[in-house]
Amino acid sequence: MQINIISLFPEYFSGPFSCGTLRIAQEKGAIKINIINPRDFTKDRTVDDYQFGGGAGMVLKTEPLLKAINSVKKEDSVIINFSPAGVLLNQNIVKDLVKKNNLVLVCGRYKGIDERLGKLCPAKEISIGDYVLSGGESAAIILIEAISRLLPGVLGHIDSAEDDSLQNGLLSSPVYTRPANLKNSAVPAVLISGDHKAIAHWRRKESIKRTLRDRPELLLDVIFTKQDLEILTEVLNDKNS
Ligand code: ADE
Repeated sequence: MQINIISLFPEYFSGPFSCGTLRIAQEKGAIKINIINPRDFTKDRTVDDYQFGGGAGMVLKTEPLLKAINSVKKEDSVIINFSPAGVLLNQNIVKDLVKKNNLVLVCGRYKGIDERLGKLCPAKEISIGDYVLSGGESAAIILIEAISRLLPGVLGHIDSAEDDSLQNGLLSSPVYTRPANLKNSAVPAVLISGDHKAIAHWRRKESIKRTLRDRPELLLDVIFTKQDLEILTEVLNDKNS
């Protein structure tokens, strides 16, 4: 997947792209990152200007951003603009974007981008949460990491994304490692029973239980199997007993 990032701060990305999943995704060729600085599309490096109508904060000018986008945009590009006004990022959006070949991620800064950019170059607006950041760069990193985890070959089998929280709409079950006994707290016996069927059942039940307890609204979008419904009934019965 070709990922083009339009940013006034290319150096922002050097740390995150040089370690962990984002480094591996690049080394394996699953993602190819191209960072474009809109300042390179100006005569005097100026990319912002005062707001019409007055008010504090500078506004990003349309032309340098448009030229930067057009320098990399392909017919099949998905153009994304990060903003707290966008749709809230979730795993379904990530799963959808994994199927694309070419992304153009526009990172705003300052007071925002001149409204006319959206008319000249329609983009999908994405927010990573109901809080205000100083720019879209950290949002871009979050999105790219979430996408990279799902691209074939990036995660080894050992830490595959299959049972990640939210990958199937539910929170994941709790996990444990050695020692089996820690300060009088033992891991659930089923996990050291060697009974794979019982372990799978326990994990699914814990996953449903956790989601019901911590994020019940997620359950509204889950497509339950018959077995899941039986587990849900078990969970509800356990709660009431
Ligand atoms: N830019 C500023 N705040 C943001 C947010 N919450 N999500 C995405 N981009 C942003």
